[in-house]
Amino acid sequence: ALQDTFARQAHLSDHRPQYGIQPQASFKVAILGASGGIGQPLALLVKMSPLVSALHLYDIANVKGVAADLSHCNTPSQVLDFTGASELANCLKGVNLVVIPAGVPRKPGMTRDDLFNINANIVKTLVEAVADNCPDAFIHIISNPVNSTVPIAAEVLKQKGVYDPNKLFGVSTLDVVRANTFVAQKKKLKLIDVDVPVVGGHAGITILPLLSKTKPTINFTDEEVEELTVRIQNAGTEVVEAKAGAGSATLSMAYAAARFVESSLRALDGDGDVYECAYVESNLTELPFFASRIKLGRNGVEALISSEIQGLTEYERKALESLKPELKASIEKGIAFAQKQA
Ligand code: NAD
Ligand code: LMR
Repeated sequence: ALQDTFARQAHLSDHRPQYGIQPQASFKVAILGASGGIGQPLALLVKMSPLVSALHLYDIANVKGVAADLSHCNTPSQVLDFTGASELANCLKGVNLVVIPAGVPRKPGMTRDDLFNINANIVKTLVEAVADNCPDAFIHIISNPVNSTVPIAAEVLKQKGVYDPNKLFGVSTLDVVRANTFVAQKKKLKLIDVDVPVVGGHAGITILPLLSKTKPTINFTDEEVEELTVRIQNAGTEVVEAKAGAGSATLSMAYAAARFVESSLRALDGDGDVYECAYVESNLTELPFFASRIKLGRNGVEALISSEIQGLTEYERKALESLKPELKASIEKGIAFAQKQA
């Protein structure tokens, strides 16, 4: 979809009159944490979407310059900046989709759960404002630990009486992007053809790529399955270590988040054929939140795709069972935090 977007933008910069190809720019998107490592490149990629009419950038600092810079791109959306808590409500009014990459990233030696104490409060405060100002918006949570911040967001929305489980998403797209890349490299396939579903959650062993469900059908040796699974599970740490204290994945994350935004906007626009993996409220397992492939529609999650977590290999079945206690504990930690604060 992004490639399509780039192609369309190239066409728009052509000065000939446009007949019947003028894209519909009708959705308002807010990014909370917009001047951060993810926020800035994500804002750039969303600015390129022909489906966006307004891009609202919010952060506690440095957002004016980012917005001024971005506003010079000759793509349809209007860019507005909002700084600090007093401007948050205005940022959110009338918005269709809110992306939240606000919060601190990992440094080497940390787990995502080590970010809980700071990021839980940030997500809680921001989601309260979403509930008050744009309760019908799709909410994309990027801030870690996603396994806990999504349950926190759900509780906050419930407390505000506006929870719609179909519109709250933990962004796990980067796991799919990585899985597709690593599998295509390993098996020497064309990237565009490879699609690996990734289920479970978004931390360590809770990230479970279902390599047996890869499209097109590919045979992996046991060694390849082990090597690819471990690499996909540790890919975030791979980047954290390479950045050596300067943060975690930002560019690949922005790419992945932009893909999920574009898919969501296409669904909002009425496209009936939009599927992504995301961490959502779920009844596919006994866990209340679980990442799986979902069908997206105008009202958010239209269906959870159960077929992919059936007929698993022995390796995948065992990995699914072993991720459950950790994921359950992270979900319960998030819920307990939000209920204690209520
Ligand atoms: P960063 O530190 O570069 O940027 C974070 C931004 O959030 C900063 O601009 C900061 O000012 C802002 N911020 C802090 N408190 C805020 C508040 N109360 N309201 C609004 N903005 C606030 O960090 P980053 O690299 O962009 O990462 C952001 C988060 O995304 C981290 O928690 C990281 O772990 C997570 N992340 C998730 C995934 C994923 O796959 N879901 C991938 C990469 C990173
Ligand atoms: C990632 O997967 O890259 C993110 O969750 C950031 C991290 O801390 O690894």
